[in-house]
Amino acid sequence: MKTLKVKSSLHDYKITIGSGMRFHTQKLLSKSYTSIMIITDDVIESLYLKDLKNTLKDQKVFTYVLPNGEAEKSIDNYYKIQTKAIENGLDRNSLLIALGGGVVGDITGFVAATYMRGIDFIQVPTTILAHDSSVGGKVAINHELGKNLIGAFYPPQAVIYDIDTLKTLSDAEKRSGYAEIIKEAFISDLAFLNELFSINITNLTNEQLSNHLYKGIQIKAEIVEADEKESNIRKHLNLGHTLSHAIESELGYGKITHGEAVAIGIIFALRISEIKYNIDLPINSYIDWMKMNNYPFDLSELKTEKLIHKMKSDKKSKNQVIQMVLLKEIGKPTTEDLSDDFLTEQLNKFIKELKSL
Ligand SMILES: NC(=O)c1ccc[n+]([C@@H]2O[C@H](COP(=O)([O-])OP(=O)(O)OC[C@H]3O[C@@H](n4cnc5c(N)ncnc54)[C@H](O)[C@@H]3O)[C@@H](O)[C@H]2O)c1
Ligand SMILES: [Zn+2]
Repeated sequence: MKTLKVKSSLHDYKITIGSGMRFHTQKLLSKSYTSIMIITDDVIESLYLKDLKNTLKDQKVFTYVLPNGEAEKSIDNYYKIQTKAIENGLDRNSLLIALGGGVVGDITGFVAATYMRGIDFIQVPTTILAHDSSVGGKVAINHELGKNLIGAFYPPQAVIYDIDTLKTLSDAEKRSGYAEIIKEAFISDLAFLNELFSINITNLTNEQLSNHLYKGIQIKAEIVEADEKESNIRKHLNLGHTLSHAIESELGYGKITHGEAVAIGIIFALRISEIKYNIDLPINSYIDWMKMNNYPFDLSELKTEKLIHKMKSDKKSKNQVIQMVLLKEIGKPTTEDLSDDFLTEQLNKFIKELKSL
């Protein structure tokens, strides 16, 4: 078992990572609550809900099951959960538990942030990607005009990460989570990056997996502690995301996972970094790693102009100027404003390059 403390402006919270942690949730609660409502989705419900409920035997426990998928992070479901919380009589001394991936974590956190002006919540992540979403206190739901547009900064009371639950993830979801871990390595740690280049993500020991999650969370935690509200260095966590958001939105959500799109976005950010700063980055090793792990590459159905248009609506771009996170070297991220002409030329080349891989 590994633990880590994260500081936030509201309160500090502990992250516990280990095998079988879901069976120890009761012990890890730092105080007693009048009632608890577990929020999960219909896939995780059949796998892990019973285990978690059984550990909370002596408590008044309610559950709320969402359908799975990104589309469920909606205002409609947000309102339904609030209604259930009121009907179940949750008071200000009640707790919400998010049992699931980033979707469940984000919507539960936003309900917790606003129910009776804020009640406690804890994250019990069940995806690799959720090592990222469960730490840092960003909680949100989607608006039909854009992802995560309605939200808050509201940290959990604790994060309880049971790595055994990650065994049932599909390979695509494993790839999705590992793209965020490798992103964290790119922005801060060459040795960690080289270690990751050697691994096949469908074939990891528990020890490797928990080490990688721990390191990824440590990198994220250090950054969010220094810049909780994303006024400067928290932006660096968006390496690869300017293009990936455009890819996801152009392909239609669900075609490839978020992290698979990020993995492609990172190659593009590395290419642009090499040109801008006249440096060499380990792009070939990274592409080899992506191939070994079956990441998708083909973007040939996407049009450069449409991607550029979408990149302009990225939260980082100001006055329609696209800003990307680039690397001056491994572990030295920075942000750069880039012209449309330059990006159009590079993106055309990049889409051709991807086709040839
Ligand atoms: N708040 C943040 O800082 C932050 C950061 C990154 C991402 N996010 C958000 O996270 C979301 C993506 O999270 P995600 O990738 O975890 O997606 P997700 O929650 O949709 O989970 C992916 C799929 O895996 C299934 N699943 C979850 N756990 C499983 C398990 N243990 N075994 C088998 N199947 C399982 C789910 O039912 C779902 O179908 C996005 O909405 C994104 O905006 C938030
Ligand atoms: Zn991401």
